[in-house]
Amino acid sequence: MMKAAVIDRYGGSEVVHIRDVTPPVSGRSDVLVRVHAASVNPLDWKVRSGMTKILTGRAFPKILGSECAGEIVEKGAGVTLFQKGDQVIVYPGIRRLGAFAEYVAAGGQNTFLKPRNITFGQASGIPVAGIAALQALRDLGHIEPGMKVLINGASGGVGHFAVQIAKVFNSAVTAVCSDANADFARGLGADRTIDYLKEDFTKGEERFDVIFDAVTKRTFAECRKALTPTGVYVSTLPSFSVLLNQYVLGFLTGRKAASVMVRPNATDMEWMRTQIEEGRIKVVVDRVYPLEQIREAFAYSETGKARGKIIIKIT
Ligand SMILES: NC(=O)c1ccc[n+]([C@@H]2O[C@H](COP(=O)([O-])OP(=O)(O)OC[C@H]3O[C@@H](n4cnc5c(N)ncnc54)[C@H](OP(=O)(O)O)[C@@H]3O)[C@@H](O)[C@H]2O)c1
Repeated sequence: MMKAAVIDRYGGSEVVHIRDVTPPVSGRSDVLVRVHAASVNPLDWKVRSGMTKILTGRAFPKILGSECAGEIVEKGAGVTLFQKGDQVIVYPGIRRLGAFAEYVAAGGQNTFLKPRNITFGQASGIPVAGIAALQALRDLGHIEPGMKVLINGASGGVGHFAVQIAKVFNSAVTAVCSDANADFARGLGADRTIDYLKEDFTKGEERFDVIFDAVTKRTFAECRKALTPTGVYVSTLPSFSVLLNQYVLGFLTGRKAASVMVRPNATDMEWMRTQIEEGRIKVVVDRVYPLEQIREAFAYSETGKARGKIIIKIT
C-alpha cells in the first residue's frame, strides 16, 4: 500500500484525506516513480472543489496532484528513454492526476529528466507554472529581444517563471506585484516594478508589446489601452472576449488577446532544464508542507499570496 491525498467527492478542504491506497500498476510503456515531492497549483484546489469536473469527471476515489518529481524504480519493457534510478519530473496532468502519492506511474511522454542542480521539490514545480509561462510568452506573446513586456502577478508560481523567461528572451520587463514583493521581482531580473495597489498600469502612458496577466486579474478590455498597436494580451484563464479574439477574430490586424493552456512536452522541458542548469532560471520555493498537511498547503495557495511555488514533501 502507499499513502496518497484522496477525495471521494468534490468539495472544500474537508474532502481531502491522506490514506493508504493500492500503488499504481505500470504498463509496458510506463515508468513507476517513487515520488519525493509534488507541487501545489491553484488548479489542485479547483479540481478538489469540482470547478474542473467537465475534465476530471465523476469517478471516485481520485488521487489529487498534477505534477511531481522522484526516482524511477521500475520501467516497462517498451521504455527506452529512461533507466531505473533516473531522477525525473512526472506530469500526469489534470486528466490522470495522482501526483500527491508515494508512487506514480506515467508514460514516456509525461516523464522528463530533472535538472541536476535543483531539488525534487523545485523540479516538481516546473511543468504547470514554468511551461505555462514559456508557452504564454513565446508561443502566444511572440516575445522577441528588446520588446517591452509587462508581467501582472510577477511574484506567483507562473509569474516568477515569466519574469525570468522574459529576461532570457532579452526583453525589458515591468513586473506588477505588491510592494512587499518588489525586491523579489527585481531579484528575478525585472527592470521595473509597479505596485498594483498604488498604480494602475492600464491607465498609464507606457505601452507594452506583451502584457502577460499571469494571475488573470485584469481583462483584455482594460489592458488594450496599455498595448502597442500590435501588442498582445495573454491570460492564464480563458474568458469569452479572449477566446473570441484568439479563435474568431485572430485574422484581424491590431491588438490581440490569447489564453494559454499549458501542454508540457519534451522539447519545452528540455529548454527549461538547460536554462536552469546554466543558471538563467531558478525555481523559488515559498513553503514546503508534508503530505499530511496538504489541506494547509491548499489553504495557503487559496490565499493567492504565494511567492513562487508551494511544495509537498512526500518521501
Ligand atoms: N491555463 C494554464 O495552463 C495555467 C497554468 C498555470 C496556472 N494557471 C492559472 O494561473 C493563475 C496563477 O497561477 P499561479 O500558480 O501563478 O498562482 P499563485 O502562485 O497562487 O499566485 C500568487 C501571486 O498572485 C499575486 N497576486 C494576487 N493578487 C494580485 C493582483 N490583484 N495583481 C497582481 N498580482 C496579484 C500575489 O502577489 P502579491 O502577494 O504581491 O499580491 C502572489 O504572488 C491561476 O488562476 C492558475 O489556475 C493556468
